[in-house]
Amino acid sequence: MALLGEFCAAVRGVGDDPIDDDFLADEEGAVDVVAGPSERLVAELLARRTEVVERLVAALGSGPVLEIGCGAGTATRRIAARPLVVVDRSVRALLRATAGTDATPVVGLAEALPVASEAFGTVVAANVIDLLDDPGAFVAEVARVLRPGGRLVLCTPDPALGAVGGTDEALVDLLEDEGLTVVQDVDGLPWVRSHGPRHHQLYVVRLVVAER
Ligand SMILES: C[S@@+](CC[C@H](N)C(=O)[O-])C[C@H]1O[C@@H](n2cnc3c(N)ncnc32)[C@H](O)[C@@H]1O
Repeated sequence: MALLGEFCAAVRGVGDDPIDDDFLADEEGAVDVVAGPSERLVAELLARRTEVVERLVAALGSGPVLEIGCGAGTATRRIAARPLVVVDRSVRALLRATAGTDATPVVGLAEALPVASEAFGTVVAANVIDLLDDPGAFVAEVARVLRPGGRLVLCTPDPALGAVGGTDEALVDLLEDEGLTVVQDVDGLPWVRSHGPRHHQLYVVRLVVAER
């Protein structure tokens, strides 16, 4: 990171605008549960913290695998198929997620993937599509980089994709518009991010698997 800072300072026209870290310092470690009436509920949610990622990984197709938007690497560390290429716009996320693995980290944008066409058997993207300004460009890119018969596995806490007045069918409609066929669609899965003993975030996510 220091080297990147020096680079930005030395090259005219290059900015070092900050990119937020959209991951927690520890997304999987033990969390103290405060004793009291909420104790059981919180413990039950914490026990299901990685469930959605485990379901995603169980739905993966063949390699090579491209993961987009790795965050802290909760999915990255569970993906066994190789080769595994990981794209994120955040260098910090990439360094964190791929540390100690033989995955290949690549800085890039989900809407303009810096990889060759038809190079991947599987693309996985957990909780990313809803963050994008142009989810359509992202899905078009996924269709481009998947081999025929290849598989996209994603989940999102906002299947309406931020559209004002949009419905939760927006995600599936978008995938189908890009020529992908939905083969699995599971809604209502818990995704829990724990910020500390008194602050837990519960998202209710939809997991979709689509094939090219
Ligand atoms: C909410 S986190 C999800 C992390 C992880 N997949 C998970 O489910 O725990 C979103 C991740 O997507 C990355 N991201 C956001 N917008 C992106 C974009 N346009 N292109 C590539 N990565 C992006 C962020 O840097 C972050 O690592």
